[in-house]
Amino acid sequence: MIKGFLFDLDGVITDSAEYHYRAWKKLAEKIDIKIDREFNEQLKGVDRMNSLERILKYGNKENDFTEQEKAALAVEKNDDYLTLIQLITPEDILPGIMELMNKIKEHDLKMGLTSASKNAPFILEKLGISEMFDIVVDPATLSKSKPDPEIFLKGAQLLGLEPSQCIGVEDAEAGIESIRKAGMFSVGVGDEVSMRDADYRVETTAQLDFDKIMAAAGK
Ligand code: G6P
Ligand code: MG
Repeated sequence: MIKGFLFDLDGVITDSAEYHYRAWKKLAEKIDIKIDREFNEQLKGVDRMNSLERILKYGNKENDFTEQEKAALAVEKNDDYLTLIQLITPEDILPGIMELMNKIKEHDLKMGLTSASKNAPFILEKLGISEMFDIVVDPATLSKSKPDPEIFLKGAQLLGLEPSQCIGVEDAEAGIESIRKAGMFSVGVGDEVSMRDADYRVETTAQLDFDKIMAAAGK
């Protein structure tokens, strides 16, 4: 029986995935690497340093920077990202999300946040929805990035639930893999290709419907 939901943040609750993309694109251009939206699918859900490594590899520059230089590049990207997310308001909650979260609460189910982003608590504050979450997994406590299941397993544990009692909601390929490996029912938001492994898929958050998801998960 389903007793809780675990949500990704960027690209699911709000469109901050777009800001991550813009900040990485700017940083990549500075070091003569061109990235596009197709490549960006591989960055979604992946933590900061691993995202940088993937970009460097994509541009055949994985051996061009010292660890210290890489750390500085990651800081530069994050500074840019922080500037972009300052202006987030409750109006930036994606369509359908508030309705889904309200239904989860009405049914007395638990709710947790399983984002790899160290900026997630700040964004939840900006959106005005911090209090809706029973738990927020701190990515600093994790040793492995999505697609490893660690983050979703930790989320279930913090909620006091078995993985099989949880539904995970994601927009990233790595995220869906993480949910599935954790042994949870996965809800994917996005196109057929990137969400091909999701147990249940919607094209956009506006189509997220509590009753349909619960029925698909077999309750
Ligand atoms: C999420 C996003 C990724 C981002 C990661 C780390 O998983 O989908 O694009 O790289 O969080 O975010 P941070 O804000 O800590 O750099
Ligand atoms: Mg995401």
